Amino acid sequence: MAESMMGLKRTHRCAELSEANIGERVTIMGWVQKNRNKGGLVFVDVRDRSGIIQVVCEEGSTAPEIIEKAAKLRSEFVIAVVGKVEARSGAVNENLATGAIEIKPEELRVLSESETPPFPIEENSKTKEDLRLKYRFLDLRRPDIQRNLMMRSRVATLTRQFLAEEGFLEIETPFLIKSTPEGARDYLVPSRVHPGNFYALPQSPQIFKQLLMCSGYDRYFQIVKCFRDEDLRADRQPEFTQIDMELSFVDVDDVIDVNERLLAKLFKEVLDIDVELPIQRMTWQEAMDRFGSDKPDIRFGMELQNVTEVVKDFDFVVFKNAIEKGGTVRGINAKGQGAMPRKKIDKLVDFAKDYGAKGLAYIAIQKDGTVKSSFAKFMNEEQQKALIEAMGGENGDLLLFAADKNKVVWDVLGALRLELARQMELLDKNEYKFLWVTEFPLLEWSEEQNRFTAMHHPFTMPMEEDLQYIDSDPGRVRAKAYDIVLNGNEIGGGSVRIFNQEIQSKMFEVLGFTPEQAEEQFGFLLNAFKYGVPPHAGLAYGLDRLVMLMAKQDSIRDVIAFPKVKDASDLMTEAPAAVDKKQLEELGLELAGTKEEKEEE
Ligand code: AMO
Ligand code: AMP
Repeated sequence: MAESMMGLKRTHRCAELSEANIGERVTIMGWVQKNRNKGGLVFVDVRDRSGIIQVVCEEGSTAPEIIEKAAKLRSEFVIAVVGKVEARSGAVNENLATGAIEIKPEELRVLSESETPPFPIEENSKTKEDLRLKYRFLDLRRPDIQRNLMMRSRVATLTRQFLAEEGFLEIETPFLIKSTPEGARDYLVPSRVHPGNFYALPQSPQIFKQLLMCSGYDRYFQIVKCFRDEDLRADRQPEFTQIDMELSFVDVDDVIDVNERLLAKLFKEVLDIDVELPIQRMTWQEAMDRFGSDKPDIRFGMELQNVTEVVKDFDFVVFKNAIEKGGTVRGINAKGQGAMPRKKIDKLVDFAKDYGAKGLAYIAIQKDGTVKSSFAKFMNEEQQKALIEAMGGENGDLLLFAADKNKVVWDVLGALRLELARQMELLDKNEYKFLWVTEFPLLEWSEEQNRFTAMHHPFTMPMEEDLQYIDSDPGRVRAKAYDIVLNGNEIGGGSVRIFNQEIQSKMFEVLGFTPEQAEEQFGFLLNAFKYGVPPHAGLAYGLDRLVMLMAKQDSIRDVIAFPKVKDASDLMTEAPAAVDKKQLEELGLELAGTKEEKEEE
């Protein structure tokens, strides 16, 4: 039976107590983690978000009715305990922050009872994630997830503090808007008042923060939800949170400076880690050439080597064809993997094919210096030696080669490099390696749409020295865009913006917008640009990704209170769900129905 809390007031969280409190009378409230009844001696572990404390009821010193009540407690009952803090009579529990003390109860109340939970509330749960997410309210009681969310809260608080001190204003921007272009699909919200019309949920506050700069707010930030209807992965959710900022009268270095200091503060105060400043910078071109990725993990080497020149005279059609078509041959050296069994190498070939490779050629150098290679018959001894040397190959190494268009070679070897690092256990979650990737290409050719698309977004400023190529060779133009990368994850990105109407119109033209289309979609921004625009630039972090890495988790789901699963549904509330016919009618909507339903009609 549930009892009232009347007359009691919590004095401490469970694990806020320590030996310093010995002798004090305290009141704690929390959930029963477990109770053990040893006949006349009942131990109750009480848990709250701070941790666990042991309550001990003992015949002789504890009132019999309290012992009786304590013996009947079950897991997840909510209780209040008033009692004295004492040094442990038994052995000190080294695994518990409060392991040297215990509470001797003078009063025990059951505030609410609990059914047996569908899975135990414990750290490092072995319960399947689907079940945990269905009962997320219970899952969120687990200490590891609680620590993650507390860390997230701390990161948000420190960010607010830091940015406020740096003169940033926190300003909210609307959620019901006209589509903003970040390249993903929009979530749409139908309008009741304007039947047939839709709001889009923001993919980011991009346009609004630029308008705020036009309005003179000069430093803006927001910790804000963004919505993108894209395929989900471990580091992608349909709604996620950005730390979003924009600054006026600045260039690339100013944005980088304030953000390096923000990151240094967060890592120092949350993890007691010193981030070495300035953070290393690398151009996009160098990142691709050396790591095959625009978000390289620089915790380990295994860099790509361009061996096109070395192999161009090999009698190997695979290499020849690729080079003739303007492609390259590049390789990576998996140190010490030369004895990898053929089956495992075949798996790597399949892996490479998943990333678009037509194949993967290899040279496996055995410990004794003999060589096994998938293209041995297409090179003479001298050529083989030259290639091994170019790759820094030594006895015991495995050399892997891809030949194709640059983009394919980079994708394949970039992914393979990471896969091998995983297999070789080169990745240490305790090591944090930051990197700025700069000078991204402004545009990206889309085979699908047969036109250039903006690599970042259409408001990104081209590098002044490359503007001359914008008509003749648009693919060559670099942008004043930068990403901040941590251990191979893009945790943030931004750019200097176009603030000149002519360049903005040119940009829309290159992207294939007619002036009418540009006006229709972004008229309000172009209009604002007519009335005095400050030069401005900004950046946004994926807060979920940042906290995921800080908390050493593998998925952003572990740092989001109520995340969605792969098919974008919420297993707890069962959203998305069907709606009433009446609601649809009000919105002037009619369902097209499934194919089967239509056929029935
Ligand atoms: P961008 O699109 O690069 O830039 O987004 C910024 C950061 O947000 C994170 N992110 C995501 N996190 C979780 N789930 C997702 N689906 C997801 N998509 C992106 C990434 C990314 O680096 N308006 C620009 C910023 C600017 O130019 O100032 C923008 O949104 O960590
Ligand atoms: P093949 O002559 O097609 O049997 O290929 C010989 C070797 O080259 C095999 O190991 C293939 O996996 C490899 N290979 C095929 N295409 C490529 C490519 N584009 N890049 C690298 N290796 C390749």
